[in-house]
Amino acid sequence: MTMSVLEMDGPVLFFGGSYSNLEATVALQEEAPRLGIRPSNIVCTGDVVASCADPVATVATIRDWGVHVVMSNCEESLCWSKDDCGCGFEEGTACAALSGDWNSYSNRLLGEDDRKWMRSLPRRLDITIAGRRLAVIHGSVDTINSFVFASTPWADKEHQIEMSGCDGVVGGHSGIPFTHAACGKLWHNSGALGMPANDGTSRGWYSLFTPTSSGIAVRLLSLDYDAGSASRKMRDRGLPSGYADALESGLWPSCDVLPAEELARRGQVIAPTTLFWS
Ligand SMILES: [Fe+2]
Repeated sequence: MTMSVLEMDGPVLFFGGSYSNLEATVALQEEAPRLGIRPSNIVCTGDVVASCADPVATVATIRDWGVHVVMSNCEESLCWSKDDCGCGFEEGTACAALSGDWNSYSNRLLGEDDRKWMRSLPRRLDITIAGRRLAVIHGSVDTINSFVFASTPWADKEHQIEMSGCDGVVGGHSGIPFTHAACGKLWHNSGALGMPANDGTSRGWYSLFTPTSSGIAVRLLSLDYDAGSASRKMRDRGLPSGYADALESGLWPSCDVLPAEELARRGQVIAPTTLFWS
């Protein structure tokens, strides 16, 4: 398969998981120019539409913004009007029940033009920054809905990085930000913009890769936005209160998907971090 590679100079902003959260998406759209980042240097790892109240307006904002977007399980499912989000939640779990509610809500609202746009999204986008090549995917390199966490063994990540043929992988899907570097290779997840990181704060997350004289500075950054408004809208539109509460409390309504290490950190405030990848 021929893979097109985007060469990017200057800082690159990554985000994912806007989750139909218009308030968080617009807040990042307003923050990017303050950071000096143009849309051509912004890459979204997917999950544009999910649990929050504004699927149509969030898609419109991201399309108008003109950033690069990688297809996620949510776009893959919604583009064909499927009644399952494709997250890989086990049947009968709280995650599966909650996702069924927002999935049917989003399917009722989205139009054919937005589904056509979703179908056009690449499953992988390769970019080069400061001589390093990164594969941007959603879950893992070979599986769109794989959950890769900070606690996922390095050997698993290394195997995926090798499969990609790149120096590093940027993914999304699992909702908690982290950067894991070893042996000169990198796995990075910018967290979710539109749903808190289960750390007891309402902040959304994104990241910046900035070329330096000795490599790349990988900065995980949090974003304050009007989570109260996003939460109120969800209640007004009859969406599940679990995710509406989570926007304000910063705690997920269900932790079915979390490994023990991430579960143990529930409610512990995550600090923005910088890792120098050299
Ligand atoms: Fe996802």
